[in-house]
Amino acid sequence: MIVAIDGPAGAGKSTVAKQLAARLGFRYLDTGAMYRALTWLALERAADLDDAEALGALAREHPISFEDEQHILIDGCDVSAEIREPRIDKVVSSVARHPQVREVMRERQRELGEHGNVVIEGRDIGTVVAPRAEVKVYLNANESERARRRIAERPGLAADALATDLRLRDERDSAQMRPAADAEQIDTTALTIDDVVARIEGLVRSRQPA
Ligand code: DC
Repeated sequence: MIVAIDGPAGAGKSTVAKQLAARLGFRYLDTGAMYRALTWLALERAADLDDAEALGALAREHPISFEDEQHILIDGCDVSAEIREPRIDKVVSSVARHPQVREVMRERQRELGEHGNVVIEGRDIGTVVAPRAEVKVYLNANESERARRRIAERPGLAADALATDLRLRDERDSAQMRPAADAEQIDTTALTIDDVVARIEGLVRSRQPA
């Protein structure tokens, strides 16, 4: 079974998806981490972030892999820590916007999500990567709550700069951010993580064969 969890930055996807996967005994796939890893490599190589062909080729030549689900590797490097740096936050949507990049990433995401039960987190999972996912959820939260969560995740960084970055990223990511018509939409603004996980777990259980 595939559980697709989509939504904007700060909606609670990662925390919810990881806890849900652990509770269900499903694998977990973070597709945002894949765009971040490619962005890391593009910056290492000083690639032109407007050059869609070059970035698509870079993605194709350097397939991303995971170790223990928590560690992401590209070009032989474990970049799990580096991909969370603000320099990546700032430009990742410029890399992710190119269709040439998305095509390679989606292909790899389908391969990685192919076997067994998996929770896949991203922006376009329920719509494009896995349109036949048995459970689709679109998480959202109001802008100030999403900014508050991002600030809590990145202690030491200026709150106003983070809020501006989040708004810019929303604008750039908006092309891929659309709930699937058959997704369950959950506003997490006033909910606890446990509430959200329990709700999705209920959906999964109701769709699992008895
Ligand atoms: O979820 P995240 O913040 O780690 O995602 C990083 C970026 O990657 C985000 O700006 C949007 C992009 N992304 C995407 O375009 N499609 C996905 N399936 C996942 C992430």
